[in-house]
Amino acid sequence: MALLDKHSLIERNATLLLVGSLIVVSIGCIVQIAPLFYLENTIEKVEGMRPYSPLELAGRNIYVREGCYVCHSQMIRPFRDEVERYGHYSLAAESMYDHSFQWGSKRTGPDLARVGDRYSNEWHVQHLIEPRDVVPESVMPSYSFLKETPLAVDLVAMNLKANRAVGVPYSDEMIDNAAADIRAQADPNADTSGVEARYPKAKLGDFDGNPQALTEMDALVAYLQMLGTLVDFKTYDETAGER
Ligand code: HEC
Repeated sequence: MALLDKHSLIERNATLLLVGSLIVVSIGCIVQIAPLFYLENTIEKVEGMRPYSPLELAGRNIYVREGCYVCHSQMIRPFRDEVERYGHYSLAAESMYDHSFQWGSKRTGPDLARVGDRYSNEWHVQHLIEPRDVVPESVMPSYSFLKETPLAVDLVAMNLKANRAVGVPYSDEMIDNAAADIRAQADPNADTSGVEARYPKAKLGDFDGNPQALTEMDALVAYLQMLGTLVDFKTYDETAGER
């Protein structure tokens, strides 16, 4: 009965019970949290991830500024209904260059993690100008001003540098060419070989329907059209992390 005695001792002494609970909870926390510090093991290896092109990054900034994440998640969970609706569940590697993450926690609208290539540029522009023109029951706000707002490009190199400071592998070449790349990606007449070499799979050409002007609409649509399109799932081995 010695064990029982010890147990009732703990149960009857608030301080001892507190200390005991803390020890048990700490062990649980360490077991869960410690492995995350070995990120090499946590982030699965995938083919195709690369840093955002300057135009996509500018679009992402607009997405954050306009609070799109308040209504849209970018995190497909490994549940059957989500995978059937949106595609392969999200991998940690797919948001490794996101500062900050756009996973979101509210789905007033659909998840956007794999919205790239799902609609045409024209559809996105029309939808952002007036969502009810294409989805009559939509409660999404109108963002028509984006098409009238010239995209600010003067700070783009700084933006890449800031991302490099927090670990995104932008090279000196990418930073030096950022101002040229942001224009070239959305200009149907530009030489895009540099953009294509630096940012494989980047969508090229006019996005907002007005090739003469570089607008915030160009950047946001370029960003939406690349979401979820980088990883080549044909080469992804789901069991790799378990070995
Ligand atoms: C008030 C909530 C709300 C906000 C804020 C919002 N949306 Fe939406 N969004 C919705 C709803 C609801 C739908 C579904 C109906 C529709 O397609 O319009 C939707 C649909 C979409 C779709 C189509 C997705 C699909 O798979 O059919 C895209 C793309 C989209 N939103 C992008 C954006 C972007 C970009 C922003 C920020 C500029 C934004 N949304 C802000 C509510 C919102």
